[in-house]
Amino acid sequence: MAELIQPVKGMNDVLADQSPWWDRLETVAHELFASYGYQRVLLPVLERTELFSRSIGELTDIVSKEMFTFDDHGDSLTLRPEGTAGVVRAALSNGLLHNQQQKLWLSGPMFRREKPQKGRYRQFHQMSVEALGFAEPEIDAELIALSARLWRGLGISAAKLELNTIGTPESRQKYKQVLVEHFSRHRELLDEDSLRRLERNPLRILDSKNPKLRELIEAAPLLSDYLDDESRAHFERVRESLADVGVPYTLNPRLVRGLDYYSRTVFEWVTDRLGSQSAVCSGGRYDGLVAQLGGRDTPAVGWALGIERIVELMQAEGIGAGAAAPDAHLVAAGEAERRFGFRLVEELRTKLPGLKVSIGMPSAGFKAQLRHADKSGARVALIVGESELAAGKISFKSLRETKPQQLVTVEECAELLRQTRAPA
Ligand code: HAM
Repeated sequence: MAELIQPVKGMNDVLADQSPWWDRLETVAHELFASYGYQRVLLPVLERTELFSRSIGELTDIVSKEMFTFDDHGDSLTLRPEGTAGVVRAALSNGLLHNQQQKLWLSGPMFRREKPQKGRYRQFHQMSVEALGFAEPEIDAELIALSARLWRGLGISAAKLELNTIGTPESRQKYKQVLVEHFSRHRELLDEDSLRRLERNPLRILDSKNPKLRELIEAAPLLSDYLDDESRAHFERVRESLADVGVPYTLNPRLVRGLDYYSRTVFEWVTDRLGSQSAVCSGGRYDGLVAQLGGRDTPAVGWALGIERIVELMQAEGIGAGAAAPDAHLVAAGEAERRFGFRLVEELRTKLPGLKVSIGMPSAGFKAQLRHADKSGARVALIVGESELAAGKISFKSLRETKPQQLVTVEECAELLRQTRAPA
């Protein structure tokens, strides 16, 4: 036999045992996005490398070591590691921002060459919402309220909101200096990662998960003491608006995020149910990004959730994926019976749009097919044997209730199915 081809490390197949949760998340999310006025965009997974180095930042982990980049006849291209830069690029390339606001949502695969582990993959999927052209703090709160409503819609209760403001790049500059001074005084305590960050991106040291650094980080000066007045006022209004709509949160003054484009509000939904990969949804304001990518000054804010992590959280919380089982399962052994059954099922699908019918494996015997019908979770078996075929009828057998089997016409069968169908 020929050698099997292995999948790429950190890239998963999502199979039918998992996809019902993906479907459920998508159905609930898509409806909510529309109800908040977001419109869908579908964008390329390949972009010019410069798009990401200019927006996410040369010195971030993502750009400096995690991108899948290759040379395409002289052009450096990269598989998108996140969606925000591409959304802004597309808004600018297509002239969507000429005196206009845009509320857009995006869903699809992202790629980062991270060390794979549970909850952290090299190809993963995000759903994101981006509000371009909105400066008001209420939109930050509205976006967060949308995510809170999404968790409620899915039945998730183990996600907690952490909130912070990181001010403007100017106010952060001042803070960076005092931070470098603080950590430089304790250089001997820093690990290799933090030493590297000290020179290049000292704020990221605050994000270190090394327990040996905890005390030093806790003793570090707070960014909130260096905030400019406007950022402070903006944050106050975000907090008031969240209180107005009853979204609870914890202030986390150490929350800095791993991408450089943020300014002011930043937030993360975290959970203690998924081990070390605790962030299930993260985002914030990126008022400088549009200008950085060649557009006019345009305030913006957004978030992205990790689909794999939300699915894992739903499963950890014991949340089912909804009615995945078929309404009915056809059991027909024998060629003429199968032909009759096939026609019957097509007719039922026409009469009852949305009806879920599965068809038994033709090679299996009658008894095995009945067992499959039961295992499929279907409520009803539609049986076509020799006598049914002769009468041009179907035996309607309830699999979940103790009711006598009935011999019925196609019309009667449709009516019975209408009555027994699960609510959509
Ligand atoms: P991010 O925090 O890098 O932000 O990613 C957002 C979410 O994607 C994370 O909270 C996490 O759930 C998921 N995620 C990230 N990396 C992985 C991975 N390797 N495997 C599985 N899931 C992962 C952004 O990407 C920003 N673009 C979010 C944003 C949108 N900010 C404003 N608008």
